[in-house]
Amino acid sequence: MSINPSEITPEHIFLQRRKFMKQLGLGLGGLGYLTYASNAAAQLIKLPAIIESKEKSSEKISAYEDIISYNNYYEFGTGKSDPAKYAQQLNTQGWQIKIEGEVKQTITLDMDDILKLAPLEERIYRLRCVEGWSMVIPWAGIPLSSLLKKAGLTSNAKFVQFTSLHRPSEMLGQNSNVLDWPYTEGLRIDEAMHPLTLLGLGIYGKPLTNQNGAPVRLVVPWKYGFKSIKAIVNIKLTEKMPISTWMQANGREYGFYANVNPEVDHPRWSQATERRLGDGLFSKRRKTEMFNGYADQVASLYQGMDLRKYY
Ligand code: MTE
Repeated sequence: MSINPSEITPEHIFLQRRKFMKQLGLGLGGLGYLTYASNAAAQLIKLPAIIESKEKSSEKISAYEDIISYNNYYEFGTGKSDPAKYAQQLNTQGWQIKIEGEVKQTITLDMDDILKLAPLEERIYRLRCVEGWSMVIPWAGIPLSSLLKKAGLTSNAKFVQFTSLHRPSEMLGQNSNVLDWPYTEGLRIDEAMHPLTLLGLGIYGKPLTNQNGAPVRLVVPWKYGFKSIKAIVNIKLTEKMPISTWMQANGREYGFYANVNPEVDHPRWSQATERRLGDGLFSKRRKTEMFNGYADQVASLYQGMDLRKYY
């Protein structure tokens, strides 16, 4: 296959590197340190070696160009192309996350501390947006549980609240009141400790781009995309269920659980089908799967719950 140089994207590099490593009989871990400037304004961030995913995806990985150019990140505007246009203004240098509340010890970690918590793993996850599109992304990250264990949980820790950065000088969308800033999200503690729940640090074998939530975000593949909060600066363990930004904005449409569920419609549209990013506007929509296809791993968390009530 010959490729025009202008077509070479990080996705090509990702897939070709993988093929090359396979030929050599090595995993991605054999590469040592990868360095990548995620965009013009971003700093050079170093990620340690990434352990190749154990679970192989039978699905086609979404094109990198689609993933970095069409998404939701209201801190930079409500248009799908706004994050790609405006997120470069965010300076992610010196980033820290504070972990507080129902923990044995309040701690503040910088990115180096976070990267030392656990080996960086590749996870190829489907993500389904509540608005009806989906994608398949090779993330790099560590289990969220490794971060929570570092702080140590008290017996009152029943929920986790996540808060994004609030910096209107660089996050221009925060100068409008389209949402109540800063963006917050929440998980029940068993969801947060679940092995599928990832603290995302990279994408396509590289550090996260600013528009995809650099330098650190959540990835919860069985829930609608809005639960996967970007640019996290605070994690608070709580006894009571936290009220997230979207619940506060419109609690009738966006619940706390937000599990992907083709049988429970959004009040304004069906959730039974989805459009895979890259499939083209006129291609047939795909059937949405219960828990976004992760039911065998997570359905037991919700046994006995009425999923129409706890949407
Ligand atoms: N996190 C913050 N801080 N602000 C946002 O507006 N949008 C959410 C989520 N995380 C959002 C956010 C929504 S609606 C989706 S669909 C996912 O991010 C999209 O993740 P992606 O941009 O990597 O596709």
